[in-house]
Amino acid sequence: MIEQPPHQVWRLRPRGDGLQGRIQVPGDKSISHRALMLGAIAQGTTRIQGLLLGEDPRSTARCFQMMGAKLSDLEGEWVTVEGVGGQLREPAAVLDAGNSGTTLRLMLGLLASQPERFFCVTGDESLRSRPMSRVILPLTRMGAAIWGRQGHTLAPLAVQGQSLRPIHYHSPIASAQVKSCILLAGLGIDGQTTVTEPSLSRDHSERMLRAFGAEITTDTETHSVTVSGPARLQGQTVVVPGDISSAAFWLVAAATVPGSDLLIENVGVNPTRTGVLEALQHMDADITLVNERQVTGEPVADLRVRYRPLKACKLAGDLIPRLIDEVPILAVAALAARGTTVIRDAAELRVKESDRLAVMATQLGKMGGQVTELPDGLEITGGVPLKGAEVDSHTDHRIAMALAIVALQAQGATQISRAEAAAVSYPTFSQTLAQVCR
Ligand code: S3P
Repeated sequence: MIEQPPHQVWRLRPRGDGLQGRIQVPGDKSISHRALMLGAIAQGTTRIQGLLLGEDPRSTARCFQMMGAKLSDLEGEWVTVEGVGGQLREPAAVLDAGNSGTTLRLMLGLLASQPERFFCVTGDESLRSRPMSRVILPLTRMGAAIWGRQGHTLAPLAVQGQSLRPIHYHSPIASAQVKSCILLAGLGIDGQTTVTEPSLSRDHSERMLRAFGAEITTDTETHSVTVSGPARLQGQTVVVPGDISSAAFWLVAAATVPGSDLLIENVGVNPTRTGVLEALQHMDADITLVNERQVTGEPVADLRVRYRPLKACKLAGDLIPRLIDEVPILAVAALAARGTTVIRDAAELRVKESDRLAVMATQLGKMGGQVTELPDGLEITGGVPLKGAEVDSHTDHRIAMALAIVALQAQGATQISRAEAAAVSYPTFSQTLAQVCR
């Protein structure tokens, strides 16, 4: 039984003066999951520096420990993973992915391709309501045997590992979780497994699989990735950069509170993740990248952000997968911008840790924000005075943090309930907030 954290309420007041200083954000969540997973299935030792110690990577670590990977203390500066060399051990108990869609969906690709082993997987209430058919469907076409609730679409799931066959899968959605799941399933298969997506989603799996020795080819015109199996992965050193999705809260805080000047050091700026920078720059935000460099195959930079009045913009199309997790905090930026911001093509937000379109529209509405929910997005009129209110994270980490940042713009106190959700991706968020608002 995993212990539930106690409920937390955050009480916040508006900022009279700007956010100042130099901060670092915790390690990238997507890269942390992948470093743990590839390390767990590789031959030999993987060394990871900067691993995110959030609840989500901890779920990944626990699952793979149950299947034979040997991990050092997660709190150490370097975490080492002794991999199983391809063959995961059949776990004697249910694998619990907690709140983490990435853990569950990526892991399914690996489990489905382990012949003669049986696995049960589940997650928390939010994860048990999120669609798994998007990965079960292609895996089943590869020969996987997976059972679950509601016509094999929802966790808990049971997986009987099989020898799979390669496919070329045309995914209807741009999703790195879907793409990565299929590529991981393809690792053990003799032949070429290809995923084509409608537009490019984050490519951390492709980069890291290559670094671990897999043969990966990409076609940038068609947004296709191919893994040639069987692949033998060899343990590597991974230095995890700061998470741009966590940096986004500070980018918007400094871009919306007059007098701010903030430096966010060591942030991953992989082009498949920098949609938030482009969106804020469209809105006229003053953001500069300094000290750009490459760290174990991922581009990294320091981000300087200074306050400047924002203007509304339209966000849609291929940009959306490149800022998918930043829509809640971009909605906060839009509330401070002159004019009406329109966000479209973002229906995926409805099946994240919460229905982020509905939850943001309701919670920002309580603060006086003019936010209209669209079937696939939001319409936000900025410049309307906001007032503090009692709001709720709906147990969604990114909602909790976006509401904390909007509270800095509102008149009067804001109270955010179930704020402990932030620990999923950013356990030190409230400490950094206190540091920059000093
Ligand atoms: C992730 C992919 C995205 C993102 C999630 C992390 C990943 O999900 O929202 O937070 O690490 O692959 P989708 O693949 O569902 O878009």
